[in-house]
Amino acid sequence: MAKTSTSFFCKNCGASSTKWVGKCTSCGEWNTYVEEVIHKEKIDYKSTWKESSNTQRALKPVPINQVEQKNDVRLVLKDGEFSRVLGGGLVPGSVILIGGEPGIGKSTLLLQIALQFDNLKVLYISGEESDTQIKMRAERLPYTNDNCYLFTETSTQKIGKAFQELQPDIVIVDSIQTLQSELIDATPGSISQVKETAGDMIRFAKETGTPVFLIGHITKDGTIAGPKLLEHMVDTVLQFEGDRHHVYRILRTTKNRFGSTSEIGIYEMQNGGLREVSNPSEILISQRDEALSGVTIAATIEGMRPLLIETQALVSQAVYGTPQRNSNGYDTKRLNMLLAILEKKCGLRMGMQDVFINIAGGLRVEDPGIDLGIVAAIVSSYENIAIDSKICFVGEVGLSGEIRAVNRIEQRLSEAEKLGFTTIYLSKFNKLPKQSTGIKIIQISKIDEMLSFLFG
Ligand code: TYD
Ligand code: MG
Repeated sequence: MAKTSTSFFCKNCGASSTKWVGKCTSCGEWNTYVEEVIHKEKIDYKSTWKESSNTQRALKPVPINQVEQKNDVRLVLKDGEFSRVLGGGLVPGSVILIGGEPGIGKSTLLLQIALQFDNLKVLYISGEESDTQIKMRAERLPYTNDNCYLFTETSTQKIGKAFQELQPDIVIVDSIQTLQSELIDATPGSISQVKETAGDMIRFAKETGTPVFLIGHITKDGTIAGPKLLEHMVDTVLQFEGDRHHVYRILRTTKNRFGSTSEIGIYEMQNGGLREVSNPSEILISQRDEALSGVTIAATIEGMRPLLIETQALVSQAVYGTPQRNSNGYDTKRLNMLLAILEKKCGLRMGMQDVFINIAGGLRVEDPGIDLGIVAAIVSSYENIAIDSKICFVGEVGLSGEIRAVNRIEQRLSEAEKLGFTTIYLSKFNKLPKQSTGIKIIQISKIDEMLSFLFG
């Protein structure tokens, strides 16, 4: 093997040392040294590879106006949800990192994607499962691809050789934490290994224009395991999330160099793999005959898509000294704020009540436009008066109880109308679309105004 040497560097101050040390002699920090390769033998993918025009570099600085703009070369996936989350398809040479809890369905999702490309050569590298295990999973899925190759290998050097021989069009790595570079002693999954092996995969992607998917494990606090740097190195970071006990899964972008980061894709985990859910509102609103207290429908927006979701609240007399505030899918701090507003501005005695909030379907909503729906659900449960199931709500609540305007009101209105709602409560400050809608719009400026409409 050619000249290869490794050295140890402090992650904090960058000082180097020939051997590992526990405490940095330069900055005094503990446990910051990681091993890194200094010279390495490079596999020259290019020598055997199809030339990829879009990754060629200019040899000298060029004026931006003279840079040739290529037409859209995105590869549209059969999976519409995934394509949308990526910003309209796969960009050649892009590296996509997908993180999620164990058992959530990362391997299933990517195997499914691999099998859906029936005319492209896909290489699925697994360091976690054997060929037979993957085959067993593939048997459950309703797709087949004669050009999908499995490779159960963890050494990036051997994987590099496979790249040269097979010349895949798409590569999937399950998972980056199991890969290992033979040039480094550290164990797979350690910071230096993850950095080195991800670097190899990214170099391969950029030099050959092949899209690479990397599956990443996440740590207890929900971030992708390994160096934060990993997220900086790749082009797109996706999170696959959901409650393992629910069937719905959400694919969310947290970084995307080639598209918006506010998109989500919704899937349903079935016996035969993940099914795309293209009309989420219908599944997020439970089918019920009678109106129940504590349940309201909020018109929200996730990414570019309007969604109507069910918000549920339970308010009951606190048994213990300190009332409990618990929320699933909605920010607890914001819930506390809404309760304080109800107490101060509307005179409801929330201080002595336990309050529980739940967003149906295991969804997590960040759009502040659902505040009004949450407030209505809380008061409905508190008063034990049901709200008509044909009413929905949208609006952000401000600290003095005022209802603020929300964005994309036209989309929210048309979605609500499409799903058969007859009345919507929204802020007085929202400009309404010019053409009249079939839904009755009640505009209000303060919470107490809405409460007197609803509960008299
Ligand atoms: P998996 O893809 O192995 O999760 P991860 O790679 O994120 O750890 O999926 C795990 C779960 O998905 C497992 O509990 C079984 C379930 N599953 C289905 O419900 N239907 C299916 O068709 C498949 C393949 C898996
Ligand atoms: Mg897996």
